[in-house]
Amino acid sequence: MLNFDFYNPTQIVFGKDRIADLSKLVPTDAKVLILVGGASAEKTGTLAEVRQALGARPHSTFSGIEPNPSFETAMQAVQQVRADGFDFLLAVGGGSVIDCAKFIAAAVLFEGDAWDILLKGGRNIKKALPFGTVLTLPATGSEMNNGSVITRRDIGAKLPFRSPHLFPKFSVLDPTKTYTLPPQQLANGVVDAFVHTVEQYLTYPVNSPVQDRFAEGLLQTLIEIGPRLLTDTEADIEPNYDDRANLMWTATLALNGLIGAGVPQDWATHMIGHELTALHNIDHARTLAIVLPAMLHERRVQKQGKLLQYGERVWGIRSGSEDERITAAIEKTRDFFERMGIATRLGAYGLGQEAIDVVVRQLEAHGMTRLSEHGDVTPQVSRRVLEAAL
Ligand code: NZQ
Ligand code: ZN
Repeated sequence: MLNFDFYNPTQIVFGKDRIADLSKLVPTDAKVLILVGGASAEKTGTLAEVRQALGARPHSTFSGIEPNPSFETAMQAVQQVRADGFDFLLAVGGGSVIDCAKFIAAAVLFEGDAWDILLKGGRNIKKALPFGTVLTLPATGSEMNNGSVITRRDIGAKLPFRSPHLFPKFSVLDPTKTYTLPPQQLANGVVDAFVHTVEQYLTYPVNSPVQDRFAEGLLQTLIEIGPRLLTDTEADIEPNYDDRANLMWTATLALNGLIGAGVPQDWATHMIGHELTALHNIDHARTLAIVLPAMLHERRVQKQGKLLQYGERVWGIRSGSEDERITAAIEKTRDFFERMGIATRLGAYGLGQEAIDVVVRQLEAHGMTRLSEHGDVTPQVSRRVLEAAL
């Protein structure tokens, strides 16, 4: 096992009707800016519940944070926080709202041009406003980690950053809040959590049986509940609470640092996926479903040991030559994404060969030239992966 530091101070408040707990979680003397996305938090009644739980605390709402949140929108919120003296942020939404809250929390107290936060990957963040979250879409794990991804529309850049100052103080995870999600967002959540697990598990063996079995348990849970989540969104069926609860907790555990402690991590699929979203506005999880199967085929030699273990323990593949078992494991993965209603080829999103040059150029421009657990995913390798994903 590799050396590691594990630090995660986020308090998780899990279960039905837990939004009321905000009355205890948010400091009584806080002046709170609630952050929301488009219309969903208001339409579903979640925003009203949040306001009620805040009681007498002075608060206001900033709305309009887009999926794949933009620097431009975040800076409007920064202005509002500074002008009106808010000292606590409360993100109510999915990964986009939570990521935006992290950026705002850091940018409000940052001296100089806040875009530098992205250029330095967050290493220049010295402090941040405190914030909590109410999660409405299980997918990213942002509710229990210190990372965020922000997009600058004018230059088509979607960049990640992280800082130890950016863990949420608390996150409220009420599985019933997922009942209003459309099937495609539930599918996105399953696939994003699946790929987070894979990025930290499918690398090379370092004798870390606990992290491996924990990761395999998360993957098996997603494979088991994923297809059921799609059918229970059909009209007139009461959603299955336990499936929603298990999705929520699985997605959180997939990216809260636990399974990644002491093991190599890849993240090449994510970095290529971010460029596809920035250029073509494809949902985050869908970009991962396009890139991952092609990436695994391309790097089957470097990942051989773990691919065989994955095939056997997650998919029950025990017969055939090593090469056949690896191919079968990758194709099972692709099949799973497709069964979740998520297309795994660039062509299905209207993109062809001509799109690839631009993605590779953007990877180079953003310094994404030595990706993966070995640093061997160069722009040439990324190009081959994208070509295999056509
Ligand atoms: O904007 P509203 O109206 O709220 O609608 C949202 C949005 O359109 C809707 N929604 C959310 N909760 C709902 C709901 N609709 C009905 N009922 C509810 N309960 O869902 C849509 C998508 O929301 P979004 O927050 O964009 O989705 P997700 O949670 O998948 O977040 C994606 C973002 O997170 C980043 C991605 O890159 C992307 O920008 N990621 C963040 C990570 C992190 N911080 O660790 C890691 C991930 O790999 C990922 O990169
Ligand atoms: Zn992701």
